This record gives sequence, C-alpha cells and structure tokens, in this order.
Amino acid sequence: MSNIVSFDERVKDFKWSLAEQELGYKPGDDINIGWYCSDRICQLGKGNKTALIWEGFGGKEKSYTYDEVRVKSNVIAQFLTGLGIKPGERVCLFLDKIPELYIGLLGILKTGAVGQPLFSAFGDESLLVRLSDAQTTALFTQKKHAPKVRKILDQLPFLKHIIIVDHDPQKALGERELAFAMDEAAAVEHFEAYPTKAETHSLLHYTSGTTGKPKGVKHVHYSLISQYLTSKWVLDLQDDDIYWCTADPGWVTGTSYGIIGPFSLGVTQCVQDKGFSADNWYSFIEKHKITMWYSAPTAIRSLMKAGDEVVKKYDLSSLRHLCSVGEPLNAEAVIWSEKVFGKPFYDTFWQTETGSMMICNYPGMKVKPGSMGKPFPGITGVILDPDTFQPINEEGKIGLIAFKPDWPAMLRTYWNNEEAFKNKFRNGWYLTGDRSTIDRDGYFWFVGRDDDIINTGGHLVSPFEVESALLEHPAVAESAVVSKPDPINMEVVKAFITLKPGYEASKELELEIMNFIRKKLSPLAMPQDVEYVDMLPKTRSGKIMRRLLHAKEWNEEIGDVSSLEND
Ligand code: PRX
Repeated sequence: MSNIVSFDERVKDFKWSLAEQELGYKPGDDINIGWYCSDRICQLGKGNKTALIWEGFGGKEKSYTYDEVRVKSNVIAQFLTGLGIKPGERVCLFLDKIPELYIGLLGILKTGAVGQPLFSAFGDESLLVRLSDAQTTALFTQKKHAPKVRKILDQLPFLKHIIIVDHDPQKALGERELAFAMDEAAAVEHFEAYPTKAETHSLLHYTSGTTGKPKGVKHVHYSLISQYLTSKWVLDLQDDDIYWCTADPGWVTGTSYGIIGPFSLGVTQCVQDKGFSADNWYSFIEKHKITMWYSAPTAIRSLMKAGDEVVKKYDLSSLRHLCSVGEPLNAEAVIWSEKVFGKPFYDTFWQTETGSMMICNYPGMKVKPGSMGKPFPGITGVILDPDTFQPINEEGKIGLIAFKPDWPAMLRTYWNNEEAFKNKFRNGWYLTGDRSTIDRDGYFWFVGRDDDIINTGGHLVSPFEVESALLEHPAVAESAVVSKPDPINMEVVKAFITLKPGYEASKELELEIMNFIRKKLSPLAMPQDVEYVDMLPKTRSGKIMRRLLHAKEWNEEIGDVSSLEND
C-alpha cells in the first residue's frame, strides 16, 4: 500500500498544515529539525529502531538506533556549545559520507547554529570561496581532508575551530585544530535543543551561479514541513522501509532527502561510502533488502551501461519504489528500469533553492517516461513566456519553469546577496532558470537550462568559476568553458584556451591543466577536454561568446552573430 492513492485527490484540498498537524507543530511553536529528526522519533517510541546503517571502504560497517542518533547528536551539540559556538554561526561539515556527517548535522541544528555541508572532494579554492563567504566559525573534517583546509587557513580569520573526527593521537594537531571522536565521547542524555522558530536559519547550501561566486542558499527550519511531506508522498517512505538515498549530503539532495526527510519520518536508512560499481550497488541493495531507492540519472545510465546480466546476479526483489533527481532522466532509462527492476524510476525535479521536490512523478500517478511529472500538491508551477513573463497555456510551447514562492522549503535569500535573490523573480514568480514544455495532462517535459551553467552528472558547475581558476594556471592567457555532450554524465566540462607566449600546446600541458582544476575546484569541475585555440570568439565589447562554442559542441544552430568581433 502506498502513502498516496490519487494525485488529483491530494491536490484538491491541499494545505501544508496537514504536515504541520502530523508533526504536532502549530504556527508559533519551536521547530528544530535536529530535535524533530531524533528526540521526537524516540518520543514516538521508536528509540530502538535502526536509524542509520553505514558501510564504508574496506568492509567497515556501523549502525545506529534512533536513540543513539539522539544521544550522539546531543554529544555534538554539547561539544559545539562548549567551544562557544553561538546560534546563527555557520558550522561546516567537510566530510565524506560517514556517520559523523549525518548525525553531526542534527547536532549543529540542535545548537541553533547553521549547518554548511560541503562536498569533501572540493579542492582548496572551492572551499576557500565558500568558507569566506559564509564566515564559517567551525568546521568538521577528516584527517585526509585537513591539508586542504590548512592550505587556506591564513585567509580564513573567522574559522576558529577545525574539528578532526578521526585524529590519530600519535600525530600532532595543527593550528586551530582539535580532535573529536563522536563514537568514543561520553553519552549526553539530555540536551535542550535551541528553540528555533519556523524562520530561523538552518542550512546554508552553496550552488553555482552563472557569473560571480557560488551563492549561499539560505534555508530555514520550517523547510521540514515540505521535506517531511514530499518524503512521505513522493518517496512514499513508510515505517517498514529500508531506504537508500545515493546522494552526498554535500549537495542538497543528500540533506533534504538523505537526512531530514527519512529521519523526520523515523525510517531506517542505509548509506554507502564506497566508489561506484554496479556490483557494489546491487550487492548493497540485496544485503540490506533496500525497499526504496532515490538516485540520479548518471548513476542509472552507468548501471544501464554495466548491462542486464549483472542485475540477474543479485536478488533485488526487495525494491518497492525507485525515484531519481538532478538531471534529465531519459525515457530509455525509465523503460530499462521497468525491464530489469520491474518498476520505473520516478523522476523528480527541484533545486538547491527550492529545498524540496517541486515537480514529480509519484505513486498513484501514471508515469510518462521522459517527463518530470506534475507539480507537487500545494505547488503552483507554470512555464512563463521569456519575454512577457506571463504563464503560457499552449501545449508544447517552451517556457521558463517558474513557481509561486509560497512553499515551506523555499530559499529565504542568497547569503550576502539580496540582489541575486531579487533577480530570481518576475511578476511575482520565482524563476528556476530552466526551460520546459507542459502537455495537455499538465506533465512537464524538461528542455534545458536557461543559462550557461553546466549540469554534469547531476552537479552544477559554473563556467565562470572554471574560467577564473584556469586563468590562475601560468600557461593560460584566456579561457572559455562550455559543456559538451557525454553519454553517461549527459554533459561534461570542456575548456577552450589560448596560451601565453612561450607555452606550447601539448598533451602533457592539457593533462596538467586538467589536474590543476581538479585539485583547485573538484573532480566534477575538471575539464574532460581542453582545446587550444588561437583566439576566442568575442563580442565587440570584449565579452567571450560562450554561446558560439556551445553551439559547435552540440551541433546546434549558431544563431545571431552580428555582435561577433573577430569574425
Ligand atoms: O537544471 C535543473 C536540474 O538541476 C538543477 C538544480 O540543481 P541543484 O540546485 O544542484 O539541485 C539538484 C538536486 C535537487 C535544476 O535547475 N535538475 C534537477 N532535477 C532535474 C533537473 N533537470 C531535469 N530533470 C530533473 N528531474
């Protein structure tokens, strides 16, 4: 039995207060996500239920009950309070997918501080930009990632505490560093969660912008309402489910649906912190009897590539429901999943900014392979004419995906960047930056982004950030970064560069430049292809015309080139 019977029934009299009632929350009450995801579940009598099953490299395994999650998040909260961390201060989690990340976030939220998860594969430059912007005061990390923090420490005067969760006592700690081992610390039975209110800042997630620095997306504790209900209705999480969200909490999916959603519902979830391979993933599903699986198109396409035979090696009959997010889920992937798993992947569309799912396919709804589905109940989703910003009611016409900004998990602003936030609205609509069509049944069909941002394997990369980093390489005079098609990641980063005098184009230099970006930014931002050119196409005012390079890579019409300078 699924949690939702009919989409149309749900839409009719929908009110977010339904989720408030289920959570026992009344407007004006305290609402602390850390408390809701641990203490409350224990109060409901599920303290002995397994909350988290974790598997790491080399066969390491750990598991925590809800009571353990409650006590250990108290430990973290008390530890942070002891360090003098105040409500509202930003505390970063720069960790692999280890239990300290999942439980640590709840601990941070319990103190009233703001959680700032950052992808552990980020290089020092990516880290620096995000920590300086947020003026982060404390950071949790592992000894293997600490060197990246040390490298930029003198540029981070606000960062007072670097907390190493796996410190080796034989080794000396560096400047501002301290050791903290969550599993060895004495239990803290009671910690009074900070009385955060609906509008209290909870999380700061960074997302790539088209121009300029990455933007800090400000979320509040009230986001819980959306995350709880969408987890219940779209992921269809039920009490006896064993859930697996493959996303890393360094990105929004891994927090909204890898921490807050499942824990607020008291569900058992599994986490795998290992490299990707079809065998790894299928054996994980088989071993833990995963019932609900939330993943991403790039992973699904990689599984497709691994073939049907490998699927047959495993007993995957536990799987009950599958969902996907982050990039276009092609119809072939949905059809393939029906063939090999006996059920389709249900696509969901949303963003760091929206905090929770916006357009989805869900149980009880007919899945149209290739479509993102329909707006979640309570969400007013439209497509707008790009010139007038008026809703389009014509079937098949392409418009800008926009939402009425009135759902609980909506971003409240961009950190330190109110102007960029204001820029996201036209005629009272929040603009996603994506384009789509709508069919006669109200289903949305993704067309593409409305800006230059590259979505590689479900992760947004700003061409501007890569171009800026490229300029720091001694050989690079100018650069332009665009996407190029890729069968698995949908698109990957490609850089066009001109060299400074005295440098020769060579394969070695190409590899050196790729590696330079990988280390500075991240493996995702690393160009998969570097093309040397004599000059870059520019407008008469000197702006590089990425559009032309993009069109060439995608074999598209070049369009209007009247402003091209060097034609
Ligand atoms: O372009 C859309 C794409 O990913 C963007 C949001 O990325 P991010 O903020 O990193 O959040 C990703 C996870 C929620 C969107 O603006 N995107 C997300 N889901 C889909 C998608 N594109 C097509 N289909 C989707 N289902």
